[in-house]
Amino acid sequence: MTTSNHPFAGRVLDSALDAIGNTPLIRMDRIAKAHNLQCNLYGKVEYFNAGGSIKDRAARCMLEAAEREGILTPGKSVLIECSAGNAGMALAMMGCLKGYRTVIVMPDHMSTDKDLILRALGAEVVRAPDPAPKIVARKLAETIPSAVMLDQFANPNNPLAHELTTAPEIIAAIESIIGSDRPTSGKVDVVCASGGSGGTLTGVARGLRKLHNPDVKVIGSDSMGSVLAQPDTLNDSNDPICLEGAGLKFVPENLDRSCVSKWIKVTDAEGFGATVQIHRLEGLLVGGSSGAIVAGVLKYLKSDEGWKEFGGVEGKNVVALLPDGIRNYLTQEWLLNSFSDAVDSPYANEIEHALKFAQGQGSRSVSPPIASLVTQDKNLTDPATVTVPV
Ligand SMILES: Cc1ncc(COP(=O)(O)O)c(C=O)c1O
Repeated sequence: MTTSNHPFAGRVLDSALDAIGNTPLIRMDRIAKAHNLQCNLYGKVEYFNAGGSIKDRAARCMLEAAEREGILTPGKSVLIECSAGNAGMALAMMGCLKGYRTVIVMPDHMSTDKDLILRALGAEVVRAPDPAPKIVARKLAETIPSAVMLDQFANPNNPLAHELTTAPEIIAAIESIIGSDRPTSGKVDVVCASGGSGGTLTGVARGLRKLHNPDVKVIGSDSMGSVLAQPDTLNDSNDPICLEGAGLKFVPENLDRSCVSKWIKVTDAEGFGATVQIHRLEGLLVGGSSGAIVAGVLKYLKSDEGWKEFGGVEGKNVVALLPDGIRNYLTQEWLLNSFSDAVDSPYANEIEHALKFAQGQGSRSVSPPIASLVTQDKNLTDPATVTVPV
């Protein structure tokens, strides 16, 4: 029997911890084609991590460093963290495996889906409106016996996780296609991420620059309403941030903004629109911040500077970090709204006939209308005809 060369193929993993990292870098040719890009566009698809997001890497690195330093005692320590959800899930998953209770403080506008997943992992979930979650988490860390707050916003092991794992994985993947039949510059030319704790942007930028390409263009995608972008004049909206994980109302210690070559502001409509396009064109079930990141990098690649240097140049390699998956947002309005373009199915008659036929064969009656709607744009088979709202 033959096995694939997937890092997990033909191996037994000791626990879910071993299924963190080694995520795939996947070509997004259909999105690139829809935008007439000449460069290569790739997604680093992080929902393949065991806990479902890029935050598994940071949580593991922070937690294992604290264990080495003797700060944590299995069976006794209680992990407290302020999180948009993903870091909390990663810690709760590790808590299950290693014997730590977890209390996650999450802003109240974050999705119910994440709340439920946290509870499934045995975490206690505390919801509070911004900016209270950080204050609440700190207070709980002071008052709950044996509490430890790893603090993703300031812990240096968060960006280090990306410098030591995410960046080298991207480099290895891009170098592996040198000599293939697809044009390539041989290096990572552009990378794009969003800022939550700042770990991804800072760590990936450091890793790529130190190990691979000192001139890599690092694009920071930042939601309207967030204050991370520079210059500050870009942040002129006071709106709430709807895109979870793609911006903040404060600048965290772990975000080294000197790593970022250029910030691109992204509206909710652009971010969610691009998310839906990634689902429907690439079949990749990413979450909203992935769409914001892709929308941001597309805007850059289509700008005068971006087009001349990268977007319009064959072989340039552009990597978008895709932090999490659709699982975290299944009940969110933006996703449900994306089904509102449902049209009558071209197979409506056949579906109705098949359902009636099944009833005639003794099946209990089923209501056909839901089966006779499709949400797919009928032009999707030809990506070039798709209108991408970016
Ligand atoms: C969905 C999502 N996207 C992006 C990010 C940003 O990652 P980082 O915290 O490394 O800045 C986060 C962080 O929580 C997130 O949950």
